[in-house]
Amino acid sequence: DQLDKGGYEHYMLKEIYEQPTTIEQSFKGRIAVDGKSIVLGGLIDVMPQLVKAPRIIILGCGTSWHAGLVAEYLIETYCRIPVEVEYASEFRYRTPVINKGDVIIAVSQSGETADTLAAIKKAKEDGAIIIGVCNVVGSSIPRETHAGVYTHAGVEIGVASTKAFTAQVTVLTLMAIQIAKEKGSIDQSEYEILIQEILEVPNKVRVALSKEDKIKSISDKYSDAVNALYLGRGYLFPVALEGALKLKEVSYIHAEGYAAGEMKHGPIALVDDNLPVVAVAPKDHYYEKVVSNIQEVKARKGNVIAVLNEGDLNLKEMVNDFIEIPSCHPAISPLVAVIPLQLLAYHIALNRGCDVDQPRNLAKSVTVE
Ligand code: G6P
Repeated sequence: DQLDKGGYEHYMLKEIYEQPTTIEQSFKGRIAVDGKSIVLGGLIDVMPQLVKAPRIIILGCGTSWHAGLVAEYLIETYCRIPVEVEYASEFRYRTPVINKGDVIIAVSQSGETADTLAAIKKAKEDGAIIIGVCNVVGSSIPRETHAGVYTHAGVEIGVASTKAFTAQVTVLTLMAIQIAKEKGSIDQSEYEILIQEILEVPNKVRVALSKEDKIKSISDKYSDAVNALYLGRGYLFPVALEGALKLKEVSYIHAEGYAAGEMKHGPIALVDDNLPVVAVAPKDHYYEKVVSNIQEVKARKGNVIAVLNEGDLNLKEMVNDFIEIPSCHPAISPLVAVIPLQLLAYHIALNRGCDVDQPRNLAKSVTVE
């Protein structure tokens, strides 16, 4: 058992630390050695349909749904194709409109989630083209799809998904960039810049992982929290959702992820000196907006833990605690910003004596409704 865990105390921690390698596995062999092109062998046959798709619908559950949300921001930004992201459990039972040419992307680590499988069967009957983004090779969802890309994260044992999420986001990022390139909605130089950014992710993730001691000491301060709020905007809104999901899955603290701009419409009522607020605030396009959201929390005596860029002295002074991440291109920032949130959830759960690898009531793969 200890051998399987590679010397780590838990699978969750081992899998968090594997991410520089697993992210690389997800793009390796798909980016040309000269860094000038991407080849997604599994999509070659459907690329013409993807390029002219009137709409893309992304389906998934749990963490996979969050990866789908990141893809929505990427695909709409770079490909200019309208995207909807839907819970498979909703999609399968309502009467969704599927038009000719619509493409479905099903995101699933296990490839066995009953709701996702049923949702794609339904969409297939309605004539949609189905693409899978799955981790487990030969699982049920890939067998139902017309095409797909495996995420190659390796076996994930921890029930709370970590490395499978970053692998999904890596593959979806490659897909978005490649569709954009083939569609002509980005030019060669932007394409190469984005590819370069992807190549640099493993090292940036290594830097993010190196902050574990700091994260551990922060976790000691907040382990008795009853509630927690996670805020982010843009590409980092799905990361806020994922950070909150990680915390609730493994520590049983009630946590909500929110788009920071939406805080004033509800969650701000919860803010008092007992509420930890994790704000994902690197210096991107949304930075000033997120900082003003942080000020609103501080003015109400909330405790802010900011995930911020190295050297952001201004924000460091404003918040109670901070975790540094290296600065990166907004499009790849989810892959780096999620790392401290995974570690924070892990350490808080450990402090609370929770079984991080096998949280109560949860299953790794939900093959029944
Ligand atoms: C379960 C797991 C989650 C996972 C979700 C979707 O709830 O505990 O970690 O995100 O199922 O699973 P899938 O295999 O379809 O990604």
